Amino acid sequence: MRLYVFDAYGTLFDVHAAAERQKDSIGPKWKELSLIWRAKHLEYTWVYSLAGKQAMFWMLAQRSLDLAISEVGGGISTDVRARLLASYRTMDPYPEVREVLSVLKARGDKLAILSNGDADMLTEAVRGAKLEGIFDAVISVVSAGIFKPSPKVYQLVVGRFGIAPAEVAFHSSNRWDIAGAKAFGLRTVWVNRTAAPDEYPDLPPDHTVSDLRALLQG
Ligand code: LAC
Repeated sequence: MRLYVFDAYGTLFDVHAAAERQKDSIGPKWKELSLIWRAKHLEYTWVYSLAGKQAMFWMLAQRSLDLAISEVGGGISTDVRARLLASYRTMDPYPEVREVLSVLKARGDKLAILSNGDADMLTEAVRGAKLEGIFDAVISVVSAGIFKPSPKVYQLVVGRFGIAPAEVAFHSSNRWDIAGAKAFGLRTVWVNRTAAPDEYPDLPPDHTVSDLRALLQG
């Protein structure tokens, strides 16, 4: 039995799918809007964490969307804003996710999510992606009171499963999340879906894959 732990947004669920679904209403700036939305959302998590203030991921999703709408020049109706937020709660999984997770589950491995998302967001995302019943644990950072990459967050997995950090294989498409997990002592797999250049040379991933299909080769 192996324990596979996954980041949610960007690793299992396509964070840019929400804006892509609304691209006809948004116009050519949909990708720029989506990139600013994501970057600001993450920035807000880091600022609240460093400031020692707890915040909910959903509240920060709304604030960062409003900032992104202002930055790309407005012109996005309250109706489109509402649809973007609704889409965020039921993101499409990446194409290989369902099949790969089903195979891992069938061979007896344990699967978990460790995400910045609030518990209710993760429940909806898992249900929307038709992945209900596949995870042994869906862990939100909320009980740690701080966002990734605080060591308190990665500790949640170790505490839940009662195993040593080095026995946990943590998968994330976010290179900064891999750096945090590595610093904590987890075994790390960077899911580099966008062929991004490497960062954090002193906190390298143990493995790098381009998508989750590589897990079936192990
Ligand atoms: C998450 C963000 C970091 O799911 O993608 O935790």
